Amino acid sequence: MSLANPAAAEIARAVATALGPEIRPDDLKVEAPPRPELGDFAVGMFAAARALRQPPPALAARVAAALPVGGVIARATATGPYVNLAIDRSWALRWLAGNDLVPTPGAGKVVCIDYSSPNISKHLAYHHIRSTMLGHALAELHRALGWTVIGINHVGDWGTTHGMLLAAYARWGHEESYQPLDVTALNALYVRYREAMKSEPALGDEARAWFKRLEDGDPDVRARWQRFRDVSMAEFEAVYQLLGVRFDHDLGESFYEDKMPEILGLLEARGLLEESEGATVVRLPDEKDPLLIKTRDGTTLYATRDLASALYRKRTWAFDRSLYVVDRGQSQHFRQVFKCLTLLGFDWASQCEHVPFGLVRFGGKKTSTRGAAGGFLLRDVFREAAEQVRPIIAEKNPDMDAATLERTAEWVGVGAVVFANVLPQRDKDVDFDWDRAMALSGDSGPYLQYTAARCSNLRRRAGAPPSQLATADWSRLTHDAEWAVARRLLDFGDHVARAAASCEPHLLAHYLLELAGDFSRWYTLGNDEPALRIVCDDPELRAARLALTELVRGALERGLGILGLRAPDQM
Ligand code: ARG
Repeated sequence: MSLANPAAAEIARAVATALGPEIRPDDLKVEAPPRPELGDFAVGMFAAARALRQPPPALAARVAAALPVGGVIARATATGPYVNLAIDRSWALRWLAGNDLVPTPGAGKVVCIDYSSPNISKHLAYHHIRSTMLGHALAELHRALGWTVIGINHVGDWGTTHGMLLAAYARWGHEESYQPLDVTALNALYVRYREAMKSEPALGDEARAWFKRLEDGDPDVRARWQRFRDVSMAEFEAVYQLLGVRFDHDLGESFYEDKMPEILGLLEARGLLEESEGATVVRLPDEKDPLLIKTRDGTTLYATRDLASALYRKRTWAFDRSLYVVDRGQSQHFRQVFKCLTLLGFDWASQCEHVPFGLVRFGGKKTSTRGAAGGFLLRDVFREAAEQVRPIIAEKNPDMDAATLERTAEWVGVGAVVFANVLPQRDKDVDFDWDRAMALSGDSGPYLQYTAARCSNLRRRAGAPPSQLATADWSRLTHDAEWAVARRLLDFGDHVARAAASCEPHLLAHYLLELAGDFSRWYTLGNDEPALRIVCDDPELRAARLALTELVRGALERGLGILGLRAPDQM
């Protein structure tokens, strides 16, 4: 547990003070004790014992006796080398009601996050969800911690494949089957050209010639390419909107075209460029393959543009961290790009991190969403998901109006698919299981959304005022099930901090499932025992319970928002 848990931080301060000036709070490890009867937190005396040259049990006894009771600490006892502590529940609840759950240690720091980054003239396929949503979550995690976040969509809009598209368009673009010119048409043109190249090798030269004209800035060619780009971006934008994803910058590979000469000059000046079979390469330490910088006919490559974009990002935003959320198939590429930056003398290369992730497979249910290019299109998967959950929501909420039903079905359908992709550990492959993802119970997005809606529903049914956090009498919440919920809420910031540091959004996803579980256990106690109902008869107790429910709703909504899911009020 890091000290992003406010109670743990207070305890570390108090214990350090009791130990004397040689020990700082950071030297102490505040942990969860192995059994809940022992208390809420445990602090081992091992490191302090070494520093102070005293046996750990003696130190533990001394600290337990010296700790001031009151404030955060309700009870301190020594058990062997540990000090076990119970924290004052009212203190914790007051803290939760009066503070932001997430600390802001990132204030003043900048992180660049390169994510989604699809290639134009192709649809967003199902697999694009992982980079898009992992990147979105990393952006929101850092933002919550106070970082300045620069989200970048590094769209693939440059290179010889775009020469093929231009050539294909020149040959067949007027044909009726390609009207209107949307992404489906563009993709079909591309596929047809690539097919034709197999029997007509001369088409390869033709495509290269078109790309050359584009690179040389021929205005007609440029305008045509721009149209392909605009058409593609508009379709991407529709999906991003559905997901609530927005970038700070759409800077495609083409943006770096005029920044390439500088990079080539720097490589040249350092004597790093070598010729290999007509191409220009950089040899790198401990790498079998060199990094390809220019092809035989002098065009720059994906890697060259990544060198230029890294430098551009450092100069423009002075990042402290620069993340590339790209599948693990590109691990070698990024390792090599970063090594090349190091050879160029850029010590900030160590601040660049590839954040790889595993593959997605669309197993389970057979769907009708196979797109023209043989893959599943993201927008079709979302549509089908919404269609599947709509009747369930309608049945549970017979009074819901049509517009709310439509919006809720969309949020839950999208949420189910998104959550199934952020829940597994990042580097694991995802086998998308349609039924599991859609379930209203179990480890699913809809379960979390349902729990959030249940919180709202309780408050609505009780006719509770908008917020009771300031007036609640927290001392009334004495049940262990209530404390389990509050205790969990204290950990929110800690999970956000660790998920951001390790680039593992699934840590937050798991945390939210545990929070929802704690809440459900508390909630269901009232099924058998009316006195334990949240909306109970005693008005003060009810107000305090509804205030805790409000805190849960807030935490779920915020956590879901970070992961890219909306929290409906009713479902
Ligand atoms: N467009 C690339 C692809 O679809 C991903 C780009 C990732 N970002 C980067 N800076 N290379 O594979």
